[in-house]
Amino acid sequence: MSDAKLQSVLSSLSQVARQLEAVPSGRPAPDASCVKLNTNENPFPLPTIIMQSAIAALERQYLYPEDDNISLREAAANAYGVSNDQVIAGNGSSELLGLIYRAFLAPGDSVAMMSPGFSFNRKLAMSQGAQFLEIGWGEAHSLPIEQLLSGPAKDAKFILLANPNNPTGTFVPVADIERLLAQSDRLIVLDEAYVDFAPDNGLRLIDHYSNLLVLRTFSKSYAAAGVRVGFGFGHPEIIGRLRNIQNVFNMNVIGHAVGISVLAHRAAYAENHKHIKHERQRVTLALLQLGFSVIPSHANFLLAHVPAEQDGSWWQAALERQKILVAFFPDKGLQNHIRISIGTKEQMDAFLAAARDISGSLKMPSARRWAASGSASALRGR
Ligand SMILES: Cc1ncc(COP(=O)(O)O)c(C=O)c1O
Repeated sequence: MSDAKLQSVLSSLSQVARQLEAVPSGRPAPDASCVKLNTNENPFPLPTIIMQSAIAALERQYLYPEDDNISLREAAANAYGVSNDQVIAGNGSSELLGLIYRAFLAPGDSVAMMSPGFSFNRKLAMSQGAQFLEIGWGEAHSLPIEQLLSGPAKDAKFILLANPNNPTGTFVPVADIERLLAQSDRLIVLDEAYVDFAPDNGLRLIDHYSNLLVLRTFSKSYAAAGVRVGFGFGHPEIIGRLRNIQNVFNMNVIGHAVGISVLAHRAAYAENHKHIKHERQRVTLALLQLGFSVIPSHANFLLAHVPAEQDGSWWQAALERQKILVAFFPDKGLQNHIRISIGTKEQMDAFLAAARDISGSLKMPSARRWAASGSASALRGR
């Protein structure tokens, strides 16, 4: 396509479409030899019995998957004690987030998210031409109920709240969420992606509050991130609207089979969850000894404030040089942090060894540190 033609295509688009930036091409593929602690996956394979159901599903791959995810929704309804029409199944919960934005927002509308929060929401709001309001957490990461009821968020079409929250790992009492639901007349999207690592959950509230939509995923606690299984639970009027605009065959046959099998074997994950909580505590204590401060986490990751006078992007790069991938967020208030997913014991040992090594090199006299780092960039952020 010639440039003139491209320009005329782009300028014919709506203002919302024009502000979408093209993603640059040529990103390198991730290095498979790295210890990957940057996207909060579960580090273990699927339990054997669930893996077998995935393999068996491959035998049926020449058929389309079941329309409207009927058996999967039924299995989820039975497992969680709700009715079929209170459940929608998604290709991961991020598909469901996308549907919520498409169904309930028009250009010019506003949406509110507790911030810092799951940054993918920012992109979804932008793609709808909606105003994205970021509402800061209250003191000690509490839910600022009054502010949500009386500030700009009161006019938002919906309010997003992740509990436990990503990237902080903090958890607000379900009673506080219930207070917000009772007093607000807005849709509250409660994203419970990490809830199986937390002490409580809000699913029981869907029968009492028609303005609640709960999202779950099997990507984190059920080790199925690559298979893409997520659920939404809420009032049939809300759920039905989302199902109405969902892609036909949004999931594949393996996702269906794994989803149904996970729902039948949730107890098989007890050891997995125990391991993650145990490592979460062990790594928290080890990081404290290295001079990090760590927000107590109720998820499968830690948000750690790096030692004084350093910044998070510097630590992320230093760890990456040692083949450890962690997440860094450039957002205001997060620049001095890194987020570390909880992996296997071996992965966390490798992370801690690298963190100790980097920490040790920072204590060297500057000339030796310069030589040890092999690069002037080692001093950045000091
Ligand atoms: C808070 C939160 N919600 C939703 C998701 C999306 O999960 P998935 O699309 O894999 O179900 C994530 C993934 O990182 C997340 O952190």
